[in-house]
Amino acid sequence: MSYTSFDNIGLVKVLSFFQTHDSEYLSGEDLSDVLKISRVAVWKHIKKIQSLGYKIESKQKLGYRLINETEKLLPWEITKDLKTETIGKRVYYFEEIDSTQNFAQQIALDEKENGTIVIAEKQTAGKGRLDRKWTSPRGGIWFSLIVHPKFDVSTSTLVPIAGAVALSKAIKTALGIDVSVKWPNDITLDGKKVAGMLVDASFQANNIDYLILGIGINFDIDVKKIEKRLSKSANFYGVNSLRKKNDSTPPKILLREFLVQFEKTLIQLNKGEKTRIVKEWTKRADKIGKKISINTSDGKISGVTQGIDNDGALKLKTSKGIKKIFVGDVVLE
Ligand code: BTN
Repeated sequence: MSYTSFDNIGLVKVLSFFQTHDSEYLSGEDLSDVLKISRVAVWKHIKKIQSLGYKIESKQKLGYRLINETEKLLPWEITKDLKTETIGKRVYYFEEIDSTQNFAQQIALDEKENGTIVIAEKQTAGKGRLDRKWTSPRGGIWFSLIVHPKFDVSTSTLVPIAGAVALSKAIKTALGIDVSVKWPNDITLDGKKVAGMLVDASFQANNIDYLILGIGINFDIDVKKIEKRLSKSANFYGVNSLRKKNDSTPPKILLREFLVQFEKTLIQLNKGEKTRIVKEWTKRADKIGKKISINTSDGKISGVTQGIDNDGALKLKTSKGIKKIFVGDVVLE
């Protein structure tokens, strides 16, 4: 099943009416009169709304009332009260998909998709960096964000860094958790991975047609199950889940906050404020000044991290001087 932020008008009308009449009983007849749709249509929408995880109670003679919201990242839940200009204003939601990156790529060139996000509850062929697989069971936040940036190719390497800064800030605001960043594109909690990102791009000469930022957040996942599956994979250093057991913050709060924060960093990139973003990233990087090794396509390089430059490249102090590394995995810490 899939939903968008621009279809399903009838369903959203009925749902919004319930949401603005918090816990009040509403009869099918009243809903039909006020919303100007047939009683059969009202009933069908209520069934659909229930199947999407919302709890609607029905009582004879009184009618229906909404008693619980859904945890699903449904398009209208993301766009409602979203305080951005472009980012996240159009949403495609899939219960299951191969990869949100694949779908985003099919629509990315269309001008109206600037800022669009593609979300899936579950991915069957999720993609990680460097052509790796990305395990994406229910409970995570798996999405791709399409951007038609004003800046040129020289700034694009900083997009995942900007994404990591925006996501770290959003996690702090939504969940009150201080996370760290790990070069190149990871977010960690207690030294274990809680989120990762990658960028697919299409450009001609210096001009970018589109960027697709793919983000995977281990929001509320079964860590043991995933660790069992991943423990032998390349660059595995442990997995963590963000939402704590006694926390009931819904995932939409974090996603909306990310979209707001990301739009802000995008504006900074458009203004050429690269140093500002690098500083924000550096503040959250806990490995600076430490000895590490990096696996690159030219083999393993060891040295002391000096932070990143304005292109997002890692600066490593080696026995042969400072080396700038653009692609690789930090393997020893
Ligand atoms: C990494 O750390 O290797 C990057 C992981 C990125 C995963 C996300 S989940 C949503 C989007 N769709 C994909 O297939 N991959 C990205």
